[in-house]
Amino acid sequence: MKPLESIEFQTKKQMYDFMAVRLKAYLEEAPDWCSALGNASALFNALLKDLNWAGFYLMKDHELILGPFQGKPACVRIALGKGVCGTAALHKTTQLVPDVHAFEGHIACDSASNSELVVPVLFGENTVAVIDLDSPLLNRFDEEDALGFEKIAKILSGQIDWQTVLNR
Ligand code: SME
Repeated sequence: MKPLESIEFQTKKQMYDFMAVRLKAYLEEAPDWCSALGNASALFNALLKDLNWAGFYLMKDHELILGPFQGKPACVRIALGKGVCGTAALHKTTQLVPDVHAFEGHIACDSASNSELVVPVLFGENTVAVIDLDSPLLNRFDEEDALGFEKIAKILSGQIDWQTVLNR
């Protein structure tokens, strides 16, 4: 099988459709949320070009705690409403940030980051996690990326045992 990072896609839609199929396969195989989210972050990192960080922050006791990811070590705790991740988690909305230096309160975990996409994972009415993607390029992400990851967030919402994640 071709390595994930060398597969060529004609369109972003094709890439996100492929990502969704692969993610579902990983989720079916994974015995628990840790291996599921570990493989999900590796999948994001392999399929998207120009990333320096890809992974998850997971809710616990009303704050975000670092989850499985690919990239440099990052800040472990993010309060709701703080930074790009805390804003997405609090308002339950995607944050598409073309230039992190222009986002008030941005938390710089990796100085290489210049743009960021954060998508909340909702379970029922509640944010249970956020997907965080960082790029060294300015303006790396667009509406199509946001829509693509919103679909990925829905799959994760339906396939992971979030009660176990919240109780960890
Ligand atoms: N930049 C994020 C913090 C997490 S790191 O990018 C991995 C933020 O402002 O919430």
